[in-house]
Amino acid sequence: MVGTWLQAAVDCPQTDVADIEATFESLGALVTWAQGADDEEILEPEPGATPLWAAVRITALLPPDTPRDRIAAAFPNCRPHFEVVADRDWDAEWRRSLQPLRFGQRLWVCPEGRACPDAAGISLTLEPGLAFGTGTHPTTAMCLAWLDGQPLGNSRVLDYGCGSGILASSALILGARSAMAVDIDLQALTATRANAARNHCAERLTTGLPAELLPACAQETFEIIVANILSGPLVQLAPRLRRFARPATRVALSGILVDQAPEVIAAFGPWARLAVTADQGGWVLLAGTVTS
Ligand SMILES: C[S@@+](CC[C@H](N)C(=O)[O-])C[C@H]1O[C@@H](n2cnc3c(N)ncnc32)[C@H](O)[C@@H]1O
Repeated sequence: MVGTWLQAAVDCPQTDVADIEATFESLGALVTWAQGADDEEILEPEPGATPLWAAVRITALLPPDTPRDRIAAAFPNCRPHFEVVADRDWDAEWRRSLQPLRFGQRLWVCPEGRACPDAAGISLTLEPGLAFGTGTHPTTAMCLAWLDGQPLGNSRVLDYGCGSGILASSALILGARSAMAVDIDLQALTATRANAARNHCAERLTTGLPAELLPACAQETFEIIVANILSGPLVQLAPRLRRFARPATRVALSGILVDQAPEVIAAFGPWARLAVTADQGGWVLLAGTVTS
């Protein structure tokens, strides 16, 4: 059949999300997405706690000829639900499916064109899709909730691995004085500047490739460093990030699976005291302060 996809959905506890997504990817999934298994309201947890949804439905779009028994065999502990779906404008559908999300007490991330449902909230408008970082991924969500819980007034923020710039722009609208956003991907830097302009904070934002950080900030240290990358790059980046910290700088690191936390804590240990302060979907947030 031409113009169709095999859609497979699996319900799982939120601790299994990362594993299930990885399994779907290994089966050739074009895309996966997560939603509450019972359509719970999507509210982010307090900093330091609690998952998005207790039960999560992971849905994947697979080539139509993917054998169903192969998919079922990959999930021995749950029964996948299958549906053959017609080809559609998946990008447009995905954009329509994005909802305003709240992180911590005050911060809302609203897709462009969607009004913030909370008049008292602090709302970031984001154009989804240009680069990683819409708030729907647990690693981003935990960083946003952490930022919402920080006193940011007058602070300078380093967002290392900025993607869409969601963390840098959120910090700025939450009250940070300035932000430096760094990425190896030029498109991410373009998206970061565009999203900051959308939120009227571009004049307080600087963007650059990693090689540009040192010249741009030669004498500068930051009160806040946030980096949502992956544990391998974070371990390698630990000595480099030290250059931009000073005692009492607050640090938050994400993109780390639960069992990778000890290695990252050890890599930053010579100059920062970090601990797991939140976990979501098999991912953890490490946060703490610089000691020397
Ligand atoms: C998981 S995304 C995070 C995006 C956003 N900060 C968020 O929290 O959603 C990681 C980003 O880090 C960037 N990245 C990966 N390795 C990097 C490195 N060594 N130095 C700087 N950026 C890096 C990627 O290009 C990507 O945009």
